[in-house]
Amino acid sequence: MRHNPSPSSLALDPGDLWVFGYGSLVWRPDLPAVEERVAVLPGMARRFWQGSPDHRGTPEAPGRVLTLVEAPGEPCVGRAFRIRPDAVAATLAALDHREKAGYAQELRHVDTSEGPLRALVYLALDGNPDWLGPAPVAAIAEHVLRSHGPSGSNREYVLRLDAALAEVGAPQGHVAEVAHAIRRLEERWTQR
Ligand code: SIN
Repeated sequence: MRHNPSPSSLALDPGDLWVFGYGSLVWRPDLPAVEERVAVLPGMARRFWQGSPDHRGTPEAPGRVLTLVEAPGEPCVGRAFRIRPDAVAATLAALDHREKAGYAQELRHVDTSEGPLRALVYLALDGNPDWLGPAPVAAIAEHVLRSHGPSGSNREYVLRLDAALAEVGAPQGHVAEVAHAIRRLEERWTQR
C-alpha cells in the first residue's frame, strides 16, 4: 500500500497541478490557487471511515474524518484548485503534512463544466494504520460529538462540510445523514 509517495512518483506537472478536495479541502482549502472549479469525481462516495489522530482527535481517541470509497454510479462533487506554479513544491509539502495520517496520493480524472482534468486526490485506503471503517450513522455521529483534536472539534469538521456542500449544490448523502444525526443527538441532549 502507498502512503504519501513522493510527488515525483506520480509524474505531476508543476506547471499545471490541480488538487481535488472532497473534505476539509472543500471548506478550508488554504491553497495558493490561481483557479478554482466545482468538480466531480465519478464512482466515489464520501465516508467518515478514516481515523484522525492529529486534526480532529488524538492518537488515544481519534476522530472520524472523510475518505472516498468506490461507489459505481455515484458522483462525488467537490472542488478542484489549480495551484500557482511557483507554489507547487511548498503546497505539496504542506498537503503531505496535512494529510499525513493514512492518506495516499492518487491522480484521478475529474469532470468540470470546462472539461475533464487530472487532479491530485488524497485518499485513505482500507488497511492504513488509521483506518476505522464502517459504522452505523448514529454511532458515527456519537463518535464525532465526543472527538476533539488540535485543529478543533470533529463536529465542526462535519457541519462546516455539510454547509459547504449545500453551497456548491452537491448531493451530500452520507455527510448530510451524519450531520442530521449530530443535530438530532444535540437536540435530545439539550432536552434532558
Ligand atoms: C480532502 O479534503 O480532499 C481530503 C480529506 C480531508 O482533509 O478532509
